Amino acid sequence: MSAPPVVDLPIEDERLAQDIASGLNAVEKLLRSSVESEDAFVTEASKHLIEAGGKRFRTLMLLLAAQFGDPSAPGVVPGAVVIELTHLGSLYHDDVMDEAPVRRGSPSANARWDNTVAILTGDYLFAQASDLLADLGPDLIRVQAQTFSRLVQGQIRETIGPRAGDDPVSFYINVLADKTGSLIAASGRFGALLSGAPRGVEERLSRACEAIGVAWQLGDDLLDVASTSTESGKTPGTDLREGIRTLPVLYLLASPEDSRLKTLLSGPVAEEDLEEALTLLRAHPAMAQARAELDAWVDRARADLSGLPNIPAKDAFLALCDYVVERSG
Ligand code: IPE
Ligand code: IPE
Ligand code: MG
Ligand code: MG
Repeated sequence: MSAPPVVDLPIEDERLAQDIASGLNAVEKLLRSSVESEDAFVTEASKHLIEAGGKRFRTLMLLLAAQFGDPSAPGVVPGAVVIELTHLGSLYHDDVMDEAPVRRGSPSANARWDNTVAILTGDYLFAQASDLLADLGPDLIRVQAQTFSRLVQGQIRETIGPRAGDDPVSFYINVLADKTGSLIAASGRFGALLSGAPRGVEERLSRACEAIGVAWQLGDDLLDVASTSTESGKTPGTDLREGIRTLPVLYLLASPEDSRLKTLLSGPVAEEDLEEALTLLRAHPAMAQARAELDAWVDRARADLSGLPNIPAKDAFLALCDYVVERSG
């Protein structure tokens, strides 16, 4: 099983391509050194998923956003590491909650060690993020605090599920905006703030990145059904097994049909039924319906991005939108 590769975005402008490549390198270096501890085990547990891979999608967005101001401003690289560490800590915790055995093509921390190690390593990563964040000033600290608050509340609401009277589809989209859109929006906002980009650009980028974030998570949910473990670096069917009703499942449950698949998906799917449920769902029109919702979110992002100043980073953001659509198949 191999880890998914770093996002390979086609960037036509040579100067921008070089700038982004050197930014990604600098982030990678600081990311690794930021988790070094005197305790060799803490370092090992923290580096476990950093070294396993990851697409660095949020870092890429932050670096692109920083192009709208001064991309060489000193806070840009540490800001990206703060976002990447927050993401990483949330993955350590998420795999405990989802009982996921594989992450980035490697055993998850909970599988390799146990839940206690995974939870505490996640906490350590959040602490290291705070340490770097302290140097970036109160505005960034507040953005991060509000973002993390949304992320956690999204995860909580996903666990609890909709209340009687809630529309399940809008409930679900709100969960995605909070658990995933929030941190991706913060990546755009951090890039803008740390590079001193104009305020209007900051707002526009943050909105566009949030819409991309919702689309990103919708794609992730489709890949949970449609991809192999080799492609995603995760175990397919994790959402179905955990009884998390992602969009294709919600569309299917709302349809008038009376099918074997509907019975299978009405609760958490048992391990022995998982392959059958995945095969049936892959072939169901609910998948195309969910893909259309993903496309609509990317279109919203494109509309916001179109109002940005015409610099090469704007085209790169638009290429990123295409990547998000293509990734989900
Ligand atoms: C996974 O995020 C969790 C989601 C919010 C969908 P990514 O797909 O960005 O994961 P990595 O960082 O590449 O492993
Ligand atoms: C991950 O959500 C969101 C956060 C970690 C905040 P998922 O549980 O849907 O993501 P994957 O599929 O495990 O990466
Ligand atoms: Mg998960
Ligand atoms: Mg989860």
